[in-house]
Amino acid sequence: MELDTYDQALLDGEYGESRQKMMEILLALGRIYDAERFIPVKSVQVSGASFKTIGEAGLEWLASIDAKAVVPAFLNPIGMPRTGWEELGISESFAKKQFEVNAAYTRLGIRPTCTCTPYYFSIVERGDHLAWSESSAVSYANSVLGARTNREGGPSALAAALTGKTPEYGLHIVRNRLPQIEFRLDDPMAAKHWTTAEYGALGMVAGAIAENRIPLFIDLRPNRDMLKSLGAAMAASGAVALYHVNEITPETRFPFFRQHVTKDEREVVTIGVADVMNMFADMEVSAVAVGCPHLSKEEVVRAAELLVGKKTMMPFYVFIARELMESCTDEIAAIEKSGAKVVPDTCMVVSPFMDHTGCVMTNSGKAFSYLPEICGVTSRMGTLEECVRVGCGA
Ligand code: F3S
Repeated sequence: MELDTYDQALLDGEYGESRQKMMEILLALGRIYDAERFIPVKSVQVSGASFKTIGEAGLEWLASIDAKAVVPAFLNPIGMPRTGWEELGISESFAKKQFEVNAAYTRLGIRPTCTCTPYYFSIVERGDHLAWSESSAVSYANSVLGARTNREGGPSALAAALTGKTPEYGLHIVRNRLPQIEFRLDDPMAAKHWTTAEYGALGMVAGAIAENRIPLFIDLRPNRDMLKSLGAAMAASGAVALYHVNEITPETRFPFFRQHVTKDEREVVTIGVADVMNMFADMEVSAVAVGCPHLSKEEVVRAAELLVGKKTMMPFYVFIARELMESCTDEIAAIEKSGAKVVPDTCMVVSPFMDHTGCVMTNSGKAFSYLPEICGVTSRMGTLEECVRVGCGA
């Protein structure tokens, strides 16, 4: 790989042993993927933040690093809210370990944003090179914002934060961002009335077919929250890190995209609306969880509108970024008045507090898929409206 003087100095240990080791990780990655050079990144998002997922080994690795981030770096959701964790039944021993993880990342200069939606409060522009790691955030940055990031692992994201560099390969290169599979619906008009939940269900179906290919959707008109839900689900059921929706996502309007996308170059798959709707099965529910990925302001407003004047009849959790809370205090008050609990910093999947809690209803395709796998619960898919109706015992 071609190295500039800063890259070489990092590798020579001139910026300390920790950064030297981090650069060695990035160099190894660059060689595996035939990168020609390193490029600077504008920001980093680091996953592996919950003690539930990184455990003692991860904590020990973090403690061994002695360097600070040189670019803005954000932390993924952790295993519990930083305050009020006792009310959720989080054990003191887990909380102690989680606080050690938080402190370790803070020492490394990673901002404890504790969210998978850092794009709601950090500026990401089209064409920016990033090194983000949480799969839904990667998908949103690439697809909806038109930024460029591979799906980093926890260590490679941290290495990018501490050096400011990433190897240039994969989705950092424009020609690698063209669609490889095309999806159509057998009844595109049905999607006119879809909410984020149906888009999440579509993502579950499409991601399983696409695997790691880049999809192009035709005939859909989703808003940003729907795109977020679609992308998160495709990253969960497949390994989709970038997708396009014709005339909606930014790159489909690029001259380069229009010139190079020719119809006969990729498989075309028609998805049946019935297959999407089949994911909405009826079953008894013991808790409701919404906010995977963490809710946008518009979604918080909608949840408040639906819950105002109602009373929840079972545990009902709403997950959001703590940094968003200040801008929607009235809505949060309305949600909590209903008995629902607004929980920042964490989520239903990475926290242990929802493990083995029966059947959890959600409006997220990603959570629908991960809850049984990671938390040992049954999951039920429903729109936000249905979640509120069931959660309030109607
Ligand atoms: Fe975010 Fe947790 Fe879902 S990290 S995407 S809310 S599984």
